[in-house]
Order: sequence, then structure tokens, then C-alpha cells
Amino acid sequence: MKVAVTTIVLLACAAVLGACGSQGIQIAKTSPYYRGAVLFRDHCSGCHTLATVGAEGSATSIANRVKGNGPNFNIRKENVEQALYAIRNGGFSGAIMPENIVVGQNAQEVASFLAAYSGKQAQNVPHTTITLSTK
Ligand code: HEC
Repeated sequence: MKVAVTTIVLLACAAVLGACGSQGIQIAKTSPYYRGAVLFRDHCSGCHTLATVGAEGSATSIANRVKGNGPNFNIRKENVEQALYAIRNGGFSGAIMPENIVVGQNAQEVASFLAAYSGKQAQNVPHTTITLSTK
């Protein structure tokens, strides 16, 4: 009986620790982008995909997509201004993503991280760079 209880407690601990671990983040803890990566994982990964932090929140097919699925940042490249604009305004449309999930210094760090690590699997197609106001 004692063994069974101990086993259950240990399994519960493993489950809790596993869920809170940072093993999904593939950036050195000493990196200036590490904090932004943790913030992104904690606040953005439910709706966006980004392999660097193990985030899989974007839709994987048209058949199973839901309204909250945001762009896949493995493919889509964002610069700092675009990321800050989206954070402050709730995406580019303001219709689905909540505004100001992170603010101030945290927003800056998430934006710098996203600018550095988004678009790593982007296809090389001709594009036009647009400049957005970050008010
Ligand atoms: C509740 C789901 C949800 C959460 C949480 C969320 N987003 Fe979004 N995000 C979306 C959706 C949906 C879109 C696309 C629609 C739009 O742009 O209005 C979007 C769009 C974006 C865009 C614009 C991308 C583009 O090129 O069109 C950026 C940048 C972005 N999100 C960054 C973030 C960051 C950074 C966080 C965390 C602080 C975050 N999102 C959290 C749902 C979410």
C-alpha cells in the first residue's frame, strides 16, 4: 500500500514538474533572448506555432483549425515593430488576439525574441516590407 502511494505521489510530481519545465526552449539560458522566449512560451504558444520554444498553437490543417489559431512563426517572419504592433493592438486586425498580453519591458523582450527567431522556415519568395506605426 505504502509503495503504491509513493508511486502515485512520484508520478504526480513528475507530471507537475514536466508541465512546468523549460525543456521545450531551444535557446541557452545565457542568451539575451531567453527571457523573451519564456514569455512567448507562457503567453503566446496557445495560439501560435514556433519550434524554438516548442509552441504548437497554430492550425495544422484547414480541417481542424479554430478561430483562435494565429500565424505559424516558423514560417512567418516578423520584425520588432510588427511584433510590438500586434502585441499592443491584438494582432494586425485587433479582432481575435487579446491586446497587451505582455506590456512594457516584457513586450519589448517578446518582440525582440520573435524578430530574431521567427521565419526560420520561411520560403524565399518575393515580398514587400511594410512599416507599421508603433505609436
Ligand atoms: C488567443 C489566441 C492568441 C494569443 C494568446 C496570441 N495571439 Fe497573436 N494572433 C492571434 C491571431 C488569431 C492572429 C491573426 C489575426 C490578426 O492578426 O488579427 C494573431 C496575430 C499575431 C501577429 C501578426 C502576425 C502576422 O504576420 O499576421 C503577431 C506578430 C502576433 N500575433 C504575436 C503574438 C504574440 C507575441 C503573442 C503573445 C504575447 C500572441 N500573439 C498571443 C491569436 C493569438
